[in-house]
Amino acid sequence: MNDSRSAPYYGRHIFFCLNQRDNGDYCCAQHGAQEAFQHCKGRVKDEGLAGKGKVRVNKAGCLNRCAGAPVAVVYPEGVWYTYVDLADIDEIVEAHLKHGQIVERLVLPDEVGR
Ligand code: FES
Repeated sequence: MNDSRSAPYYGRHIFFCLNQRDNGDYCCAQHGAQEAFQHCKGRVKDEGLAGKGKVRVNKAGCLNRCAGAPVAVVYPEGVWYTYVDLADIDEIVEAHLKHGQIVERLVLPDEVGR
């Protein structure tokens, strides 16, 4: 039998919350999420990590952990990150997306919610 679902289509999938709240409430878009998303996409492509069996970088709406904004989550590990600048994104790409090593200093604490 051909088990075409034995391996995930993407080896790793990172979602960036890009949510913008027009009423001024705290949100990821206020904290450089769009720029971080674009930077991550560019880095993943430049490193040759993008595509089937490799890495996919996606936009997301609110992930309901806004108090940690800006946030991103990497699957299949389900590791949540909060980041400050593009150097943090570079570290996530190099360590986690490329080598599967969690960047502990950027991990979002479990208690951070909306
Ligand atoms: S606005 Fe980004 S997690 Fe809610």
